[in-house]
Amino acid sequence: MIDRAPSAQYRNGMTPRETIAVLDFGSQYSQLIARRVREHHVFSELLPPHTTPQRLRELGVRGLILSGGPASVYEPGAPRCDPGVFDLGVPVLGICYGMQIACQLLGGEVHAGQTREYGRVRLHIRQPAGILAHLPPEIFVWMSHGDAVTAIGDCFESIAATDACPVAAVRHKTRPVFGVQFHPEVTHTPNGEQIIRNFVYEICGCRGEWRVENLIDASVQAIRTQVGPTDRVICGLSGGVDSSVTAALLHRAIGDRLVSIFVDNGLCRRREAEMVELTFRDHFGIDLRVIDATDRFLSKLAGVTDPQQKRQIIGHEFIEVFKQEACKIHGARFLAQGTIYPDVIESGHGPAGHSAVIKSHHNVGGLPAELGFELVEPLRELFKDEVRLVGEAIGLPENVVWRHPFPGPGLAVRIAGAVTRARLELLRSADEILLEELTAAGWYRKVAQAFAVLVPVASVGVMGDGRSYEGEHLCVIRLVESRDFMTADWVRIDYDVLAAVGNRIINEVPGINRVAYDVSSKPPSTIEWQ
Ligand code: XMP
Repeated sequence: MIDRAPSAQYRNGMTPRETIAVLDFGSQYSQLIARRVREHHVFSELLPPHTTPQRLRELGVRGLILSGGPASVYEPGAPRCDPGVFDLGVPVLGICYGMQIACQLLGGEVHAGQTREYGRVRLHIRQPAGILAHLPPEIFVWMSHGDAVTAIGDCFESIAATDACPVAAVRHKTRPVFGVQFHPEVTHTPNGEQIIRNFVYEICGCRGEWRVENLIDASVQAIRTQVGPTDRVICGLSGGVDSSVTAALLHRAIGDRLVSIFVDNGLCRRREAEMVELTFRDHFGIDLRVIDATDRFLSKLAGVTDPQQKRQIIGHEFIEVFKQEACKIHGARFLAQGTIYPDVIESGHGPAGHSAVIKSHHNVGGLPAELGFELVEPLRELFKDEVRLVGEAIGLPENVVWRHPFPGPGLAVRIAGAVTRARLELLRSADEILLEELTAAGWYRKVAQAFAVLVPVASVGVMGDGRSYEGEHLCVIRLVESRDFMTADWVRIDYDVLAAVGNRIINEVPGINRVAYDVSSKPPSTIEWQ
């Protein structure tokens, strides 16, 4: 279950905010539904499918969306919602599996469809009203279903159909219950935005007053209430956007009672530690302790080639270094973390039944249990792009706010084989060139992640008049586009940009004589090489 404590804090002393809850039946798109609603300035969160009507009433939800899901509603044990949610008097929109559940619970029937529909499908709208208001008679929608509603009983009417699916959208005759078999939340349904808008504003009657930037004041207030007037808070800074925004919020809330720790493990990109110091110590005036633990990390990593072992060593050392430093900070009872909403869901604290993905990635998440800190997590309710909006509003520089994610084990997982100082320097040089060229060509903000990988294999080259084995390294360029980093595709970047990157790396980095472009998607490949 989602821990509701932080939300409750945001509401302290304020009128309850408009909320549309999403009952999550396990669809890969569930988070996206909440994102789409929030884009219309109404707060939305995922709740377990079996959330009671009583709980929903307490939360004062203005509308309910039943998500899609991988199960079949007629299977024993398939997740379902309490039928009482339809008696709450708040509008309900079922999407895909959610529509099938609504129809089944209110008198309809669902069976395996005769034809599966996947992908882009033409929808014929019979009634351009309600959920389908303001739409032309025919639109394209994104389908992904094997089951279908085969009978709608007396209560529903079918308001749209596709060639293969006569009941592609429904409305209840007497209650504010709607359903769509397709997915309005994905961008492949071009009119999906209008459908969500219809639900949020015309059907639920929301005012749309939620603004992510407004969270700053509420969040500052919540931090002050939680931390009290004298305690100190430690924040582990990684340089990434989540921990940076967390530190900036904390600093605004409690000023110099915040102490930030940046562990320089020697595996950072070029000038990373400098950038963190510049931003947080010089610009914000935060008490920042930079621990140069390069020697310690590199000596432990010496000769280690197994990726998993590298990760374990780095994770372990990080905790040790952090612990030593944290012990020196007296009067600190709290640890601030940049946990964001997808982390809450993915780490198993999200709605029950959700396809839980436990992150094995090391971050400060491993620390509190050992050190006995209480957690302060001001970003727990936010999606990544919302964190960026808060970051911009609170005055963090663009290079921090729009920084690509960078893995905790840093460049160690971007060097195939053993990590040495010399290899790290080669990789830093190549990586720096890549980022410079991407930024200059306006591509940096268009891609989710961009980085270089060093593959130490002997590769012959022609340098001057002779064959040269001097540059014994291959450098691989990896650029990915991704919404959630769970799936990713390689970027179809302009050849000119690739050419500039390749030329500069080969000319300016002695030791690299071959550059390759990685065209693997995730799955089956991962984003990082190790
Ligand atoms: P993969 O390689 O699993 O990466 O496709 C998905 C996303 O996670 C980042 N990543 C990490 N982040 N600690 C982190 O904080 C880690 O150990 C770690 N490993 C991968 C990766 O950069 C991508 O954004």
